[in-house]
Amino acid sequence: MIELTDYSEAGWSNVDARARARFYCEQLERGEILFVDASRFRVPQSDRAALLKIAPLSLRQKNISYAPSTGVIGGLGGSSTDEDFASAFARYSAHSIRFCAGLLGPYSDSWRVELASFRPVEEHDRQLSMTERNDLLHVDAFPGRPTNGARILRFFTNLHPHDARVWLTSDPIPSLAARQEYAAMMLDCGRIATSAASRAIANLMRAAAHVGIALPDRSSYDRAMLRLHDAMKGDAEFQADCPKYRHEFGPGASWLVFTDTVPHAVLAGRFALEQSFFIARDSLIAPESSPLAVIERLAGRAMTKQAGESVERQGAL
Ligand SMILES: [Fe+2]
Repeated sequence: MIELTDYSEAGWSNVDARARARFYCEQLERGEILFVDASRFRVPQSDRAALLKIAPLSLRQKNISYAPSTGVIGGLGGSSTDEDFASAFARYSAHSIRFCAGLLGPYSDSWRVELASFRPVEEHDRQLSMTERNDLLHVDAFPGRPTNGARILRFFTNLHPHDARVWLTSDPIPSLAARQEYAAMMLDCGRIATSAASRAIANLMRAAAHVGIALPDRSSYDRAMLRLHDAMKGDAEFQADCPKYRHEFGPGASWLVFTDTVPHAVLAGRFALEQSFFIARDSLIAPESSPLAVIERLAGRAMTKQAGESVERQGAL
């Protein structure tokens, strides 16, 4: 983990901002977590109070989501959304987008701002299905939101007034791939995702869009990452034997991480906020360290669609 030392809500301190932004981007891409002290990114006390009063029992889904593009809040079981809660959630999303745009200049022109989420439920001993469990190490892949090779960057804030949010992480994908047993797991996911059967299903899903049925248009890479998410969670040996690092993010702390690269699990904590971004491949500083590059290298073939293509290239690399 590295710490942000020269940027805050007020902007960059007296440094070469361009060079420092590239440095932080590269460190993140290579699998570092960037820790942001509570003094550098603040959630106002009134918003904090509005967010903390939400009752977790009213949850309909795993988390509560907020879509910055539409303003829609999802995941609440109640018939109406508390106005103060909704506006505090929207302000957090806008504030974190502004903060990250100033910090990560190389990305912000071409990134896709994704959903924000709020996690009001205590994670310790939370009862969820195997693939939904947060306490098992995994890399992120979203079933309904394929990236086609763009990377998943997430900005988290621990809103709890007293308790830390406790994470476990493992080595990033490129380091794991250097070990034979984990490379085999990734290769297996890549092979299944590029199989004729998997491509046929993907083509059917694409065809459904032409008759008005909206299904996610997943590239081979997206299918491989969904498999890797499940493969990591379902592999007891991986969970037991892989390298592990424990992190405690204190009250008010924030942190940034590429969650498609760094296997992570949440062991304990309540009241985390988060804003996601999809980082375009063209804006990466170290594209060779992306999970796409690693899995394509292992599989020996291209696994994404190029701009303007309706189906992905199937040729060898
Ligand atoms: Fe995750």
